[in-house]
Parts: sequence; C-alpha cells; structure tokens
Amino acid sequence: MGLTEREAWLANFYRNSELHGALLMGRLARTMKDDTLLVEMTAHCATEARHASMLSRAIATAGAHLDPNVPTIQEAYGAEGGVPTALVDILVLSETLEAIVAEMEAKHGAEHAGWIEQALDHFEPAQVEAARQKWQAVDRAVASRIERDLDERFSAGSARS
Ligand SMILES: [Fe+2]
Repeated sequence: MGLTEREAWLANFYRNSELHGALLMGRLARTMKDDTLLVEMTAHCATEARHASMLSRAIATAGAHLDPNVPTIQEAYGAEGGVPTALVDILVLSETLEAIVAEMEAKHGAEHAGWIEQALDHFEPAQVEAARQKWQAVDRAVASRIERDLDERFSAGSARS
C-alpha cells in the first residue's frame, strides 16, 4: 500500500527532523567541555541518526520519495521562537521533541531523554521553567500552523478527519 501525498510529506518531515536533531547533537558533542554531557550527546546523536535512517528506509520501502527539502520541526520552532542558542533552550527543546516523537512511536518516552533531565538540574529552576513555558507555547503554535498548512496543501482528496 502506497502513501498518500500528505503521509509522504509527514514521513519526510519526521525523517528530516530526526536527521536535523542528529546533526545538532553531533555538533554539540564537539563543543561541550563536560564529559558526561559529551557521552550523552554523542549517544543521542547516534540514536537520532538511527531514527532518521529507519524512517528513510521506511519511506523508500513504502514506494514514496525521500525529499530532503521538506522543512524540519526545528526550522519551524526557529521561525516561531527564534533559533535557540542557549544550552538551556536547546536541552529543553530536545526534551520536548523527544517526548513528542516517543509518543508518536508509542515508545517509553523519557527513557533516552533522561540525561537531559539530569543536565537541566544544573540550571536555575526558574530559568528551566521559563524555557519550558516558552518552548511549549512555541510548540503549540507550530503544531497548529503545520496542521493548517497541511490541510491547505493537501485539502483535495485527503480530508478524512
Ligand atoms: Fe528520534
């Protein structure tokens, strides 16, 4: 069974976002000074890269095309909330993404984001809370915008919900 255009777009969106996450983590894993963070970031990079690889194969196996030009969730977050540069923002955002994707994959969520929780313990609680609130609001705005965009783009034929 093939994918609808909307499904193929979404699959590419997830695939590209996983890859973006892997590249971001890989970059961080070359810049930090803390050994524990370096170990966890490297592992996280590998995990996200594996997810991107699995999705790539799944898309191809389903007979759809891989499209590296489909934007990523991180780009959407950046457009909505500014590109995160502070470590606390990057960690909170990675944690948010982890939770979303774990939910989507129906997997035990916090499992591999546990290290992020621990890393966030080193920040001021108020700072972490502010970052969480900011990115949760950004996430809600991004989710509804993507849904609106998809409804507009693929309205013909696939309006089933
Ligand atoms: Fe992932």
